[in-house]
Amino acid sequence: MAERDPAWKVLEKPSHPHDSARMHVTGEARYADDMGEPEGMLHLAFGQSAEAHARIVSMDLSDVMAAEGVVAVYTAADIPGINDVSPVAGDDRLLADGEVINHGQPVFLVAATSQRAARKAARLGTIEYEPLPAMLTMADARDAQSLIEPTQCMARGNAAAALESCPLRLSGRFEMGGQDHFYLEGHVAVATPGEDGQVHVLSSTQHPSEVQHLVAHMLDRSTADVTVEVRRMGGAFGGKETQAALFAAAAALVADKTGRPAKFRCDRDDDMVMTGKRHPFEVTYDVGFDDEGRLLGLSLFLSSDCGATVDLSPAINDRAMFHADNCYFLPDVEIASERLKTNTVSATAFRGFGGPQGMLAIERIVDHVAARLGKDPLEVRLANLYGPGRDVTQYGMTVADNIAPQMIARLRETARYDERAVAVEAFNAGSPVIKKGIALTPVKFGISFTTTHLNQAGALVHVYADGSIQVNHGGTEMGQGVYVKVAQVVADVFGVPLGQVRITATRTDKVPNTSATAASSGADLNGMAAHNAASAIRARLTEFLARTYGCAEEEVHFTPDGVLVGAETLSFGEVTRKAYLGRISMSSNGFYATPGIEYDRDAHKGRPFYYFAYGAAVSEVAIDTLTGEHKVLAVDILHDVGRSLNPVIDKGQIEGGFVQGQGWLTTEELVWDSKGRLLTHSPATYKIPTASDRAKRLTISLWDGENVEPTINRSKAVGEPPFMLAISVYSALNRAIAATVPDKRELPPLDAPATPECILKTIAEFKAP
Ligand code: MTE
Ligand code: MOS
Repeated sequence: MAERDPAWKVLEKPSHPHDSARMHVTGEARYADDMGEPEGMLHLAFGQSAEAHARIVSMDLSDVMAAEGVVAVYTAADIPGINDVSPVAGDDRLLADGEVINHGQPVFLVAATSQRAARKAARLGTIEYEPLPAMLTMADARDAQSLIEPTQCMARGNAAAALESCPLRLSGRFEMGGQDHFYLEGHVAVATPGEDGQVHVLSSTQHPSEVQHLVAHMLDRSTADVTVEVRRMGGAFGGKETQAALFAAAAALVADKTGRPAKFRCDRDDDMVMTGKRHPFEVTYDVGFDDEGRLLGLSLFLSSDCGATVDLSPAINDRAMFHADNCYFLPDVEIASERLKTNTVSATAFRGFGGPQGMLAIERIVDHVAARLGKDPLEVRLANLYGPGRDVTQYGMTVADNIAPQMIARLRETARYDERAVAVEAFNAGSPVIKKGIALTPVKFGISFTTTHLNQAGALVHVYADGSIQVNHGGTEMGQGVYVKVAQVVADVFGVPLGQVRITATRTDKVPNTSATAASSGADLNGMAAHNAASAIRARLTEFLARTYGCAEEEVHFTPDGVLVGAETLSFGEVTRKAYLGRISMSSNGFYATPGIEYDRDAHKGRPFYYFAYGAAVSEVAIDTLTGEHKVLAVDILHDVGRSLNPVIDKGQIEGGFVQGQGWLTTEELVWDSKGRLLTHSPATYKIPTASDRAKRLTISLWDGENVEPTINRSKAVGEPPFMLAISVYSALNRAIAATVPDKRELPPLDAPATPECILKTIAEFKAP
């Protein structure tokens, strides 16, 4: 085997706790809202639209201005530069300008001496609206052909002809809901004016560079005048990829106008009303198959509610199409993706980024085929897996590292799937009210931004003369552990303990032009960039030591036992002290761009992903057929993180992702009223999973492989893929419901989320003759 790049070498003792774990639990970890408030700081609130779609006829804000504590009130006319906080399309207004397009949209901005005063005053605006026709449902938008972009099609072969000639055929339809991110820390931004028109913004954002650009454009300044900083977020989940810009821009506007520091800490209810969520989807399908359940032809129609603006909806819906195969080979297939524009808050990134919606579609189709054939769905899954001669996706990418078959086989064995499936059946035969279900579903998730140019990252490493190290990079920390992973990579390059590496806040003045920490690629990209930076410094130190000690560079080794220089062993601190006196530069930036990926978006063909991350889960559930309630009894997960950068962090991601996916599919329900107002805007009405919803027995094993691609340490991304393991819960619920009418050979008409109401309704429909 060729000598391996050190980036692939196995990390020493990788299972470090999260760098902030102790500070998270003691409350010492500082979030944007915890920073000291300087004298004169202003607090902000938005006046929100009371209409879903209307022209603003007039606005009287005199009562707002006169309210106690109010210092300033701004409208769109006060924005010096461009009134836009959108990621791509230029269609997200900071403040409504003449027209409102969703209920809750920011119309004016209040700056006051306290948050309470700002919020109270924000309700006092008198706005006269001329209502315009509002599209509040997907059906409304479809009727009006209101789309954010033309319906996209990803196809291979001839689906129509295959469907005609298939021995068996069925069709179906179902819906899945959106999801609120419900990060524990809501949106927050603090802007501090600097000298000569500069501004510093502390933002709870996954995308500091984008916030920087948008603030600069909004203020009509250059990017270099704006610095954005983020030490950590209290959760983000995609909800702070684009949405943070609104609050950051509002704070920056006030700081710029008043010359005073300004903080926008969004109230939870306002946050839920005003910021985007996961896209709800409607799915219709027509599938042809054989007696074994092999899919021969598929016509799939994915329709999503993108809300009022474009946001990231094109890429999110693309990712749904990319994942509509999951682990299965679809020989003749046509996937159409309709992107509807409505007058509800614009939908945005959420863990999985459309992947979960596409994957749920195909898993439901497989369940439907299995039900029709009277087979265990696992048999149908196995019959359709990618394999030799059937290894090219519908978008033309070869599945080069197909480990799904082995992983499923292993999990089937270790989770005793077959035995338990028999036991579930026996239980159901003797239990009229409580019914159980069990399911094994796999995951294959493509890793990379499908917008190719985003797959780049930078880092900055400083080594000080005392041997301590500072690392900085473009990745942002939202609890997922990217900081500790990247710090481990740097510590490892120098052979020093992790404690010697100081992790620092992400700042646009340290590393420029960064991508969002998203698409699960934070550690892949920034880990490699930091590795490159640290390696450059190590190379200089190596050259210096070889020269100083008169040995070959090959005789210099940075190890956990010290730096070996020929026959000598020096501590890392001794090396850095000598290097400083020897006038060696011990600071370097590093850069990384993912190799080998390209994608033609017009044709929907190419290799959009560097590699795939895999997983499989077995979930066992029980439902109460009289109340519709359910319980997830046991979960067994086998997940692929390549050669883990940090197994304990990865297991945390897997468990958290799974439970969040479970919430999406079972308890989290968004309800809007007939005027387009979100009714579920607080934890009183919106139910995220809690500790008691987590299965009592939840086992997680890591697959013991390594990435076939030369990623950092041969690891794989872990942030999003486990979310989709929760499809096993939904599939198991289906089977539990199906058990209410044995041998019906039909799929219960279950939509997601499978709330008690929804399960009860489904049972009634399923039982109806
Ligand atoms: N884990 C925690 N604790 N909090 C989060 O907000 N976001 C998820 C995932 N895991 C999130 C998380 C999402 S949507 C993504 S894309 C990845 O983390 C981003 O981080 P990574 O690229 O470093 O994995
Ligand atoms: Mo994650 S949805 O890519 O921020």
